This record gives sequence, C-alpha cells and structure tokens, in this order.
Amino acid sequence: LVTEKNKENKREKWGSKIGFILAAAGSAVGLGNLWKFPYSVGNNGGGAFVMIYLIFLILIGMPLMLAAITLGRKTQLSAVGAYRSIKKNWAFVGGLGILCGFFILAFYSTVGGWVIYYCIKAVMGDLAIKDPNVLGAIFGDFISSPTSSIIYQGIFLILTLLIVIRGISSGIEKASKVMMPALFAMIILIAIRSVTLPGALAGIDFFLVPDFSKINMDVIMNALGQVFFSLSIGMGVMVTYGSYLDKDTNLIGASASIPVLDTMVAMLAGFATLPAVFAIGFKASSGPGLMFVTLPAVFASMPFGMLFCILFFILVLFAALTSSISMLEVCVSYFVDEKGANRIKAAMIITVTMYIVGIPATLSMGPWQELHILGNLNFFDFYDKLTSNILLTSGGLLLSIFVGWIWGAENAVEEIEKIGKKFIFASLWKFLIKYIVPPAVFIILINSFKDVIT
Ligand code: PHE
Repeated sequence: LVTEKNKENKREKWGSKIGFILAAAGSAVGLGNLWKFPYSVGNNGGGAFVMIYLIFLILIGMPLMLAAITLGRKTQLSAVGAYRSIKKNWAFVGGLGILCGFFILAFYSTVGGWVIYYCIKAVMGDLAIKDPNVLGAIFGDFISSPTSSIIYQGIFLILTLLIVIRGISSGIEKASKVMMPALFAMIILIAIRSVTLPGALAGIDFFLVPDFSKINMDVIMNALGQVFFSLSIGMGVMVTYGSYLDKDTNLIGASASIPVLDTMVAMLAGFATLPAVFAIGFKASSGPGLMFVTLPAVFASMPFGMLFCILFFILVLFAALTSSISMLEVCVSYFVDEKGANRIKAAMIITVTMYIVGIPATLSMGPWQELHILGNLNFFDFYDKLTSNILLTSGGLLLSIFVGWIWGAENAVEEIEKIGKKFIFASLWKFLIKYIVPPAVFIILINSFKDVIT
C-alpha cells in the first residue's frame, strides 16, 4: 500500500496533528530518558550534569527541534532529499543521519533486548526481590551470557521491523495514544514511591543540587550528547517526521511540546531511579544496569509491586520501540524515497545488517567487554560515543548552520508563519540558531573528537 502511494507520488500524511505529536514524542521518549538519562546523571556527578543538560536543552535542543521540523515541513521530503532540495551538496548531512540511526539502533537494540527479557522475568515473578546484590547478580548473569542476550536483541529488531513495514500512520499512531499516557502515569507513581523511601533524600540531593566542582569537559560533552540523543535531534528523524505535516500545522506548538514532554519523562525517570538508588544502598555510578537493578527493588516495596513491574517493563518496551522504529524509518525511507527501493525488502535488509553490526555491542557486555576497538572503548561504548558525541552532535551543528545560514533563518520563519500567525520569538530563535548554537556545538564537538581519538 505504501509503495503504491509512493508511486503515485502522494505522501502519506499524519492522521491527525496529535498523531504527529505522539509519533515525534514517541521517537524522543525512549530508553534515552528511562535508561540512559538516570545512569548518565549517576556517571557524570549528579545535579551539575542535570543543570547543564537543562541549559543545553533550552538554548540548543529546542531551537534545533523547531529548525528540523520546519525544514521537513517546508520540503515535504525525508532528510537527504530535504537538504538536497534546498542546497544540492548538503545531501550528505541527511546521509550522516542515516549512518547515525544505523549505529544507534545497533546498540539500542542490545538494551531493547534486555527490556524484553525483563518483561518475561517480571511476568514469571522472578523480580520480586529487594536486595540490590541479588538483582545485580541477575542482571549481570543475563548480560554476560551471550546467547540469550543476542536472541533477545534479535527479537527487539524483529518487532521494530514488523512495525516499520506496516507504514507510518497505521502502526505508530494508534498504539501511542494509549501507551504514552500510560507510561507517563506509571512513572509518576514510581517516582512518588522512590522519593518517599527511607534514605531517599540523599538521592534527591544528588539529583538536584549541582556540585559545581564536578563540571568538566566530559560532563559538558555528555550533557550535550544526551540532549541530542534524548530529543532524537541531529540525525534527520524530526526532519522526516516534519515532512509528513500539513501546511496548516502550528510548528511552534509541535516543536515546543516534544522537548517539554521528553524532559518531563527524563526528570521523572531520574526521580524514579536515583533516590531509590541511595535508599537501597546501590551505587549511582554503576552504569547501564542502573535501571534494571534499582527499579525492581522499588517495585518490591510497593503494594501490587509485581503488577507494576510487569506493566512498567512492557511500557518501557513500547517506548523503546516507538524510538527504534523512528531510527529504522529514517534508514528505510531513504532507500524508498531516494532509490525507489521496495519498502519491505529495504527494511529487511537494513534490519539484518543492523543486527550483524549490533551483535558485537551485545557481546561487549559479556565476553567482549575488554575487547577495545578504540582507546579504551569496547563496541558498545564505541557505538554510544560515536553516535551521541560525534554523529548526532555533527548533525546538530550542520542542521543549525544549514537552517540559520544556508536556507536562511528568515526563510524558515516565513515557513513557520505560513499558518498566518506571527512567531513572537522569531528574533530570539534566529539569534540562537545563527549565533549561539553553531559555535557552542562546534567547540564541544572538537573536544569530543579529541576525546574519542585519544
Ligand atoms: N530519543 C530516543 C530515546 O530517547 C533515541 C533516539 C535517538 C531515537 C535518535 C531516534 C534518533 O530513546
């Protein structure tokens, strides 16, 4: 059906504006918020990281979100075509995004697989445990046993593939309407339980009160990478999603609500996880396993905890899938829109390749942990750094230069005002996108390069 539509040269549109918001928010809200944000806060010194994160979000993330969606809506093309239609030799920026989506999904699917495993564990009642040491051991045993984690990674990719080949509006929109609000409600409940646990205060303090001595270039770099990762900005997802918007959509509303929602979920995930980490006597800096060890312990101290536990991991899986489909979609729509490929075939080939590239990431949680492919980075860390700190950041930088200077912020504002309403923050936005975002991101990017190379 979708290929037929493409042949007729009519692009699908979102069924409704709320459909777009849900899908874009679905892309943004994912493991980045629930799994990565809390442990990044833990690894990067707590409140100081959160503070820098929020500053970057407002000064860099939000202006870029508007830039991306506007570019998509203007051109009605997915990333590569969008850049090219305005300036021929900029198509590579879209290409960079495809590469980035590919590498993110390669390790995102590792964690997606963990979530599936935890759904099953929760259903079987195996997570009704309060002791962080036991929970840690369960997690450790699982990720270090390569066969099962590789299988679960494959299942996650297959689920992603199945949704993507059903086309855009049918698959994504319907489920989001139920699952996203459910996730939101759920995480509020968990956060309330977490902050009221005895001993939680130290965690709240760690999360919210910035210790300025913790700020260094690494923290700054990781905070910016986290903003891009969490907002799905810098790799063409938002350009592509914006391209499905009608000319009468209010772009400002759409591009403000996504970062706000995304950040609320990230902060709530922080409140759900970090206070509990302190309360149960776990270490905030224990890395990628943080959510998987801490939250079951929180559930174990809640009435109906195991029911919550099951529901929660199912909702996390859903959130992860609405993000992973956006990554796969960017790759697939390139081959469909640009190369005239068959959607199903393209999606299948890309998914298989992703799986092959992604298996080493899963293995680096176990037997390949010490297999360093660059500096002291194993495959998992390498894909993570490569995407968050280099590719997304470069994509964000190029997007700001492109919209601010090449296409021109003026023209973008004109597109934004097409609905007949004035954009009151136009001059502020133009200033940020032209003079603040490019140099700020550039400086941080240079440092990331140094960091990854040395
Ligand atoms: N934003 C998603 C998350 O937070 C991850 C993602 C990054 C999705 C980049 C698409 C593009 O989980």
